[in-house]
Amino acid sequence: MQEWNGSVAFITGGGRGIGLGIARALGKRGARLALADLDEAALSRSSEELSAVTEAETVQLDVRDRAAFAAAADLVESKLGPVDLLFNNAEIAPKVPVREWNYEKWDVALGVNLNGVINGLQTFLPRMIERGGGGYVVNTASGAGLVPDSSVLYTTAKVVGLSESLHRELGEHGIDVSVLCPGPVDTGIIHNTSSAGGGIAVTRQAELTEEAGDFLKNGTSIDAVGETVLAGMEARSLWIHTDDFVRPWLKARYEALLESFPNSPYAADSPRRHA
Ligand SMILES: NC(=O)c1ccc[n+]([C@@H]2O[C@H](COP(=O)([O-])OP(=O)(O)OC[C@H]3O[C@@H](n4cnc5c(N)ncnc54)[C@H](O)[C@@H]3O)[C@@H](O)[C@H]2O)c1
Repeated sequence: MQEWNGSVAFITGGGRGIGLGIARALGKRGARLALADLDEAALSRSSEELSAVTEAETVQLDVRDRAAFAAAADLVESKLGPVDLLFNNAEIAPKVPVREWNYEKWDVALGVNLNGVINGLQTFLPRMIERGGGGYVVNTASGAGLVPDSSVLYTTAKVVGLSESLHRELGEHGIDVSVLCPGPVDTGIIHNTSSAGGGIAVTRQAELTEEAGDFLKNGTSIDAVGETVLAGMEARSLWIHTDDFVRPWLKARYEALLESFPNSPYAADSPRRHA
């Protein structure tokens, strides 16, 4: 059983949504919390709520900003102690049809969703490794990192392969890794994306429909996701799912992928292997 009491968690996107759900689940188990987010108003709301439960610090941070990430780490570690739980969770949901792609949109999408994760790893992993006390990294990806999605910009930066390889790499340092692959979760990510893009329209107005909002509204609650994440970490599960929304597509993808191989001499049922 994981001891949460005494841990220090750094959660990007901790101002609301899934990050807040994870923070609540950790806070009620006694972990100390560092919440980082672009949105100061969201941060002050979550800080007010969580400070009543545990020690909680907030830091306004754009995850694209490497120097600010290092400064945020120094600040929270000086106040709360060494961070041993890292949640790379802050992201946006860009949705741009191919005819409207441009480099600015790619830079925003990959800057936040991919470089933001890399910056979190590059900031905290050397500290965790140097201290030698182990740790845990949870990267939020998506079901859209497991199967094709209608947004290429989103899927490209969903860090499933990164997390799986990192899991192998960090084992020798006693640092665990999970990748959270949620199905629909009841958050405002679609609307929040339009303000987090820094003036670059990475979500078309046409996507901000009630239908899109309803799809997420009917999804899992952020509190249920927080509990699922902690249960997954206690089970040391590499993949953490919030529902089985993508399971049929994943099964079909997996089968098609296996069938696409030539008759390899290494395949278990290959006549060449048994010759
Ligand atoms: N909501 C869903 O249905 C769903 C499904 C699958 C995966 N996810 C993933 O879950 C994660 C969290 O999404 P959510 O639904 O909680 O969204 P959310 O919008 O509720 O929360 C994301 C938070 O990240 C912050 N953020 C955005 N850009 C930032 C930046 N550059 N620097 C720092 N903070 C920034 C936002 O201000 C916001 O508070 C994302 O990785 C998302 O892709 C969500």
